[in-house]
Amino acid sequence: PFGVRSYHEKVIDHYERPRNVGSFPKGEAGVGTGLVGAPACGDVMKLQIKVDDATGKITDVKFKTFGCGSAIASSSFMTERVRGMTLEEAGKIKNTEIAKELCLPPVKLHCSMLAEDAIKSAIKDYNSRRKPAAATV
Ligand code: FES
Ligand code: FES
Repeated sequence: PFGVRSYHEKVIDHYERPRNVGSFPKGEAGVGTGLVGAPACGDVMKLQIKVDDATGKITDVKFKTFGCGSAIASSSFMTERVRGMTLEEAGKIKNTEIAKELCLPPVKLHCSMLAEDAIKSAIKDYNSRRKPAAATV
């Protein structure tokens, strides 16, 4: 009934070989950091974007997730998805898209929500660093 096999394959692939794990060196220019937690389970996700000021495009992404396999897979997927996007495009990604792509079951929806929250929070952080006076999001 449910795509059990593809759930396992895609999630496990991202879980076992997560892409873009790590963080940028402290103080690196053009970086925005999102740090979010899931109240339901206490899992934490940190997602960082590196943005080219001139084009407003995300040139690099890194994450560290302390959480379940679905949260790790969601953040790994998110890093691949937003690379090369403008901030505006990246800010529109919905957790439902990630959940669908990874075939997450309903109880794991909040894991993908972490990834949506994290990218939004990273964009907000980048914008606030860039123009502190006009930080309107
Ligand atoms: Fe914490 Fe998902 S409940 S890992
Ligand atoms: Fe809580 Fe996955 S982030 S169970």
